[in-house]
Amino acid sequence: MQKIIIKGGQKLRGEVRVSGAKNAALPILASSLLATGKSTYRNVPALGDVSTMKKLLADLGAKVDGRAGVANIDTSQITKFEAPYDLVKTMRASALVLGPLVGRYGEARVSLPGGCAIGARPIDQHLKGLTALGARIELEHGTVMARARRLRGATIVFDVVTVTGTENLMMAATLARGRTTLENAACEPEVEELAGVLNKMGARVHGAGTSLITIEGVDELHPLDHAIIPDRIEAGTLMVAAAITRGNVLVRDCLPDHLDAVLAKLRAAGAEITIEKDGVRVRGRDEIRPADIATRPYPGFPTDMQAQFMVLMTLARGQSVLTETIFENRFMHVPELSRMGADVLVDGRTAVVRGPTKLKGATVMATDLRASACLVLAGLVAEGTTEVLRVYHLDRGYERLEKKLRALGADIRRAKGSL
Ligand code: EPU
Repeated sequence: MQKIIIKGGQKLRGEVRVSGAKNAALPILASSLLATGKSTYRNVPALGDVSTMKKLLADLGAKVDGRAGVANIDTSQITKFEAPYDLVKTMRASALVLGPLVGRYGEARVSLPGGCAIGARPIDQHLKGLTALGARIELEHGTVMARARRLRGATIVFDVVTVTGTENLMMAATLARGRTTLENAACEPEVEELAGVLNKMGARVHGAGTSLITIEGVDELHPLDHAIIPDRIEAGTLMVAAAITRGNVLVRDCLPDHLDAVLAKLRAAGAEITIEKDGVRVRGRDEIRPADIATRPYPGFPTDMQAQFMVLMTLARGQSVLTETIFENRFMHVPELSRMGADVLVDGRTAVVRGPTKLKGATVMATDLRASACLVLAGLVAEGTTEVLRVYHLDRGYERLEKKLRALGADIRRAKGSL
């Protein structure tokens, strides 16, 4: 296994480009199943989760190839309709093939994802929606089986706002007979991006990006060529890196409109933010101010930025309160940050951070993707050397983060590790 070794204390300076969005790429690659033929996707990030999705599509019979940043998926011969446990257990987003398979082929079998490091994460809303669309759902030996001759449009009201649930049902409904209405839908930019892709394929989706989405079913969809939007969470992570190191970084090619809540909190913490023609410039100030944050569905503050922001808050003069409202167990980075000297008190879904702290380098271990990013950020400002183990978590969602940080002046490298 690999580890990342960081010597803290360097101010980051320069320009960095944001890669394609993981959470847009995953549903978009799955949506290739809705058409027959070869689709080409560009700006596809080279990530662990993206290779898992490609593996899954190949396992179903798709021909998958491509070069850096490009994925060609040919769905002319889909021969299997099952997402096996081996793949689903490494990536919950494998469940995103459920909607396309049952919508296009009338049959899907997906191993139920178990709990994961950040919480229980059930898929009951996906299944409730598919049932409303006329699918028969059976659960056997830990596998969900969905069958339908042709789905029919329905009105579905989500009990909780779910990103992949909205995406799954939106995909399934594109080929249903009649109109589907999704109420209390997720408004995330990745949902809107997927709707744009589906419409380019010939679907009739309206309202994506709001909580009310309508889909007029069509008889068939066709393949397409599409470039994926930049990753707002990677962008936000790089911005926090600039702010904590009191650096001056232009984060290029990101979409500032997708980052309003993150930019607002960076400004509240004292960072200077300028929207430039090619991206967002972040200048870190010596004095970092505390900020209270509650994670919310988009356009609220993203749960996927909570762990990274906590590092900024450890450096702020005063007390910050971070409340996690999306996942029940997303403070797994706290014990590791505490080992680096952070003063954080967790009570249920709330973490109280008292600063400023002079973080100290340590060997730390991440349990999930965003927790790993948080520990890498902490290493950038810690005194001495930090080793972050289990880098595969980081690689699931960041394209060579250490390379990008090194180009900005960080003293960071990847090495072989024993754990
Ligand atoms: N939920 C249910 N039932 C469902 C679905 C969700 O109770 O059927 C609950 C979840 O347990 C959770 C909440 O609803 O408490 C929100 O979960 P959601 O379904 O929105 O999460 P997701 O779709 O599984 C996506 C991202 C996550 C991101 C969340 C929240 C993808 C592939 N994943 O997950 O990304 O944290 O939305 O914004 O889009 C990450 O990138 O690090 C990551 C975890």
